[in-house]
Amino acid sequence: MIKTAIMGYGTIGSGVAEVLEQNKDVIAKQAGQEVELKYVLDLREFPDSPVADKIVHDFKVIEQDEEVQIVVEAMGGLNPAYPFVKACLLAGKHVATSNKALVAAYGTELLAIAREKGVNFLFEASVGGGIPIIRPMYRCLMGERIEEITGILNGTTNFILTKMDKEGESFENALKEAQNLGYAERNPEADVEGHDTCRKIAILTAMATGREVDYEDIYTEGITRITDIDFKYAEKMGTSVKLFGTSRIKDGKVNAFVAPVMIQKNNPLYSVNDVFNGIMVKGNMLGVSMFYGSGAGKLPTASAVVADIIEAAQNLDHNLNIGWSGEKQAIESMDQARFRYFVRVAGSYRNKEQDVKRAFGKVEVVELYGMDEFAVLTSEMSEGEFKAAATAYDSAEQARSDYGIKQMIRAML
Ligand code: HSE
Repeated sequence: MIKTAIMGYGTIGSGVAEVLEQNKDVIAKQAGQEVELKYVLDLREFPDSPVADKIVHDFKVIEQDEEVQIVVEAMGGLNPAYPFVKACLLAGKHVATSNKALVAAYGTELLAIAREKGVNFLFEASVGGGIPIIRPMYRCLMGERIEEITGILNGTTNFILTKMDKEGESFENALKEAQNLGYAERNPEADVEGHDTCRKIAILTAMATGREVDYEDIYTEGITRITDIDFKYAEKMGTSVKLFGTSRIKDGKVNAFVAPVMIQKNNPLYSVNDVFNGIMVKGNMLGVSMFYGSGAGKLPTASAVVADIIEAAQNLDHNLNIGWSGEKQAIESMDQARFRYFVRVAGSYRNKEQDVKRAFGKVEVVELYGMDEFAVLTSEMSEGEFKAAATAYDSAEQARSDYGIKQMIRAML
């Protein structure tokens, strides 16, 4: 029998306890022996829960118990998750975590300690919730050169954008609904400002390149400036707006970003709606492969953690060669990324046509009835070129009262 402990009895931690109990038989069969939950670490008591008699408040109980071979970290955040996980690995215990903030910030060090100690640091649930993506990256796709990863990697923001798109819901109401359903991070800013997606695309990029990626090098923009008016234009254009985490890898160079992107119906990620996540991986031999499923939520995420527990149980006596080295991967400047741009402009196209064409070149025009603004879709250009064009437009128009660019959304159309 293998003994485990769960650190953090929140949404994910309680989900892991539930999956361990409900799928006991199948887990024992796969692991080759029974997996027993010995401790649950939390500051709170849970007198009415099935784990009431397993609750401990002192981390040392887990750290010092040699019977505990696999520890689940589901506390979230960095403190005390980081020192606790590090101590577990140093004590020769395997660790499975759902904590992307931890993996993105300290993955390099924790993977190195796991290698040194001959144990495993596993993090399938840190990206895409219940969707298998980390294991496919280190197993099924290990013979590929990965050229691109583009994902809808945050369930909360995808839920919000879908509600705004399909039901005309306000941002605030949709966020509240997502929080009530247990999708959101403790701090919703991590979701809506794109930080959660940033950490996930950083982890996937590190998996793809085999090098350490500093998530702070990745340009990150959230969804808070996307409005119902943008979706009105999108509807007219037959497009939608999704929060993408993208990484393009070519000749050792990586272009990576997180931003809302306008896409059309033939994009494989167009129909990834609600809390679902979708991840497109392009390999040099494979071509395009899609991973789709529940990107957040208690049981889907817990299911991925449990798969890591089984992976650890199957490899108790050695370290699996997964993850990345300490060598740093450079990320190119966002100014070099290329998009088309959806731009909403104040005034009427009739009055602005000359200045728009002078600044942006050839554009497609989109007008909504009864608005004192219009939108254009530019040709493909680099972000640097776009910034220069936008500045040129604003300076040419400055003398007027109804001047200015009201919105810009990058487009892959
Ligand atoms: N808050 C995250 C999301 C949870 O909404 O996707 C899963 O990482």
